[in-house]
Amino acid sequence: MKESQPSAIYLKDYQVPPFLIDKTELTFDLDETTTVVTSRLHMRRNPASGKSTQPLILDGGPDMKLIGVAMDDYQLPPEEYRLIDDKLIITATADEFLLTCETLIEPQNNTRLEGLYRSSSMFCTQCEAEGFRHITYYLDRPDVMSVFTTTIIADSKRYPVMLSNGNEIERGMTDEGKTFVVWQDPFPKPAYLFALVAGDLAVKDDHFVTMSGRKVALQIFTESHNIDKVDYAMEALKLSMRWDEEVYGREYDLDIFMIVAVDDFNMGAMENKGLNIFNSSCLLASPETTTDDAYLRVEAIVAHEYFHNWSGNRVTCRDWFQLSLKEGFTVFRDQTFSADMHSETVKRVEDVSFLKTAQFAEDAGPMSHPVRPSSFIEISNFYTLTVYEKGAEIVRMIHTLLGAQKFRQGSDLYFERHDGQAVTCDDFIAAMEDASGVDLSHFSRWYSQAGTPVVTAKDEYDAEQGIYRLTLTQETPETPNQPTKLPLHMPVRVGLLDENGNELAAGYQGDASVEHVLDFTQASQVFEFTDVRECPVPSLYRGFSAPVKLRYDYSSENLLTLMSADSDGFNRWSSAQQLAVNELTQLIEQAKSGVELSIHSQLVKGFKRLLSDESLDPAMVALILALPSQAYLSELATSIYPAEIKQARAHLKALLANSLKDEFKKTYQSLNTQVDYEATATEIARRSLKNTTLSYWLETADEQALVAVAEQFSNANNMTDQFAALSIAVQNSHPQADTFMDAFYQQWQNEPLVVNKWLMLSASQERPDALDVVTGLMSHPAFDLKNPNKVRSVLGGFGQSVSAFHNLDGSGYAFLADQIIVLNKRNPQIASRLCTPLTRWKKMQPELSSKMKAQLERIMAEELSKDVYEVISKSLL
Ligand code: TRP
Ligand code: ZN
Repeated sequence: MKESQPSAIYLKDYQVPPFLIDKTELTFDLDETTTVVTSRLHMRRNPASGKSTQPLILDGGPDMKLIGVAMDDYQLPPEEYRLIDDKLIITATADEFLLTCETLIEPQNNTRLEGLYRSSSMFCTQCEAEGFRHITYYLDRPDVMSVFTTTIIADSKRYPVMLSNGNEIERGMTDEGKTFVVWQDPFPKPAYLFALVAGDLAVKDDHFVTMSGRKVALQIFTESHNIDKVDYAMEALKLSMRWDEEVYGREYDLDIFMIVAVDDFNMGAMENKGLNIFNSSCLLASPETTTDDAYLRVEAIVAHEYFHNWSGNRVTCRDWFQLSLKEGFTVFRDQTFSADMHSETVKRVEDVSFLKTAQFAEDAGPMSHPVRPSSFIEISNFYTLTVYEKGAEIVRMIHTLLGAQKFRQGSDLYFERHDGQAVTCDDFIAAMEDASGVDLSHFSRWYSQAGTPVVTAKDEYDAEQGIYRLTLTQETPETPNQPTKLPLHMPVRVGLLDENGNELAAGYQGDASVEHVLDFTQASQVFEFTDVRECPVPSLYRGFSAPVKLRYDYSSENLLTLMSADSDGFNRWSSAQQLAVNELTQLIEQAKSGVELSIHSQLVKGFKRLLSDESLDPAMVALILALPSQAYLSELATSIYPAEIKQARAHLKALLANSLKDEFKKTYQSLNTQVDYEATATEIARRSLKNTTLSYWLETADEQALVAVAEQFSNANNMTDQFAALSIAVQNSHPQADTFMDAFYQQWQNEPLVVNKWLMLSASQERPDALDVVTGLMSHPAFDLKNPNKVRSVLGGFGQSVSAFHNLDGSGYAFLADQIIVLNKRNPQIASRLCTPLTRWKKMQPELSSKMKAQLERIMAEELSKDVYEVISKSLL
């Protein structure tokens, strides 16, 4: 273990920066062995700081070599500055001065992928959250905003493309015959939005005319072999730019907007001002190599990063505790954009399903934290589902409480009031309140209270008076450092149905309509509806109007009614899920007690109706047919029995498949048309239902189904269908599954993004030698430990293999721990994210729980990065 343990930083300790940097001039002399970075920082004491004698403390990094530092051209002798814990400290400073610093860095040896590093043949940067300090000494905090001018010097034969933020203002040759290019970004920004790219890149050019008639040049850069895969991203960019004008009144502000794809990237993408950098897996798309899911992801992430230009860049965060200010809001914006481009209900179901599976699990575990955390050890660990997805739910609730029009007035006020500033979540709330007149003081508790509220609904119907009383009770479980919880303010969208599923009008607070939004603010509250004709079936939290766990004692009949008739499409899905969860819970209990599994499934009836109703969106049918996932059932369990959950799911799936064999076969065949690939909502929906029904049909082991899978695998004209056939074959032990896997690799070995899918599927197989397979993959020529996408494919895939990862002998956990220990040194951010499955140890069945804990302790005994230390130590508390 480390001698000194990393310490936490607290929101309550926030202080304004003692110094400001008005202008930042950077020069990069790029080279394969050492890169020289010269910075000229035009600094002054911050008048708002009051601390007029405080020394200047600049953030730095461990792999940076300081060559020299000067103040107003006076070269500081070593005794006039100190280097302590990667920080550069200068005691004597004037009120205003020019600080010049020269540092040496080695991007080619940077495996953390933070700061300046190499990916394939290019140089690129990732500075959020605290990567800039690995490039040069700086006040690396988001409330220090500066105008950046960047000079890049490089050999133009190897690096013909040299990019940074803003506009290119100058270009020429140095005395040594290298090329230099100067970029200037007129908008003051924090260092985390700085970017630099240099390489031999191909470009796709386009343009966009903004709402005020300005022409903006659009450029997407990739390595030349990928430039044929950026058309879809370019269209998504133009759609995003138009949408942000129409829906938020936000116009783009520079004359050029660039996107670069890189292969080695820790996250999805980054919103650097005017120069977004993308993980190539989130940008490139072609029908032959990209699945429908990935197409939609490209569109959503292009939009997300573009939207940050206002929600993040023009208005940025005061400190990293406010991360959700930009991320929650921007996720809400990209979710709404995708809903507008495709189907609102389908998008909502997908987002909520993800939230309830992964964010709820995070919020119930040792890393649970409020959307605005109050402390952290390593900020990279707080780019979480809570900050992003639950943060988006908070913004969505504000939208519901205010209504679309007032919400827009609120966002207009927010952007206008805070343009060019670094602000807090409270400032966002204040703008929403000031523009709408709605009091959000109680509501804002959502930012500071962690944990998922559990809402219990009870009701009674008074037939004589025609009154329906709904009692809602809320309780939030204890989370780390927050033993007691207060009630939250949430909007509850409610409709009432009669026994046939028709909407019942009801009076609520003098308003007679078929849907009401209740203001639920107390620990327990009674809502009274009048003029209710008959005893209703309540449709609660329509559209998932608040991120809670709802408990209401629905009968199977009620759920079937809601599933087939609710006017709220989201709740149709949600009711089907609930019905399936109820049945699966019974089956899991049977599996745990070792009895033979058996159930009279009500879902058969519901699914049969669904498959014969041609009025439904096929995408919704596919979502309803998909059984609750292994991960979601694990989240719901008080004690997780992975093998039993798997067994229960397999049982129910087989039962449904055999009961409805003809329906599945017929639906598959009717949808299996040969048409050119299109990534439209209609076509994506068709493929989705087609492949879902194929998976059920194959489950019956019908000869014809075996043939259908083989044919689809060989003849598909797009990756969605080919990969679906392959996964279905692998998951259902199709006799040719291994042959298909080999053929697939042979066919796609030169397309790294497709190979990643193959790696993931290979690693997730349920087979007796699964651990050997995964070990083999780690030394496969297609694998590369430096590439986060490959690591995620193999280890993420492995985590899905129930029999291998959750092997009762603990070998799966030990293997993952081995990889975490190796990656801890090379790439702490990725190592830390790989720890997630192990953080759930307290919820595992006893035999597995102790095995997981032992691995956490083994990791804890190593010398750890701050990233891994924080997750492991908090998990062991
Ligand atoms: N701000 C990025 C986003 O759009 C997140 C991000 C990209 C990031 N790369 C990162 C965060 C590296 C931390 C480290 O959501
Ligand atoms: Zn973001």
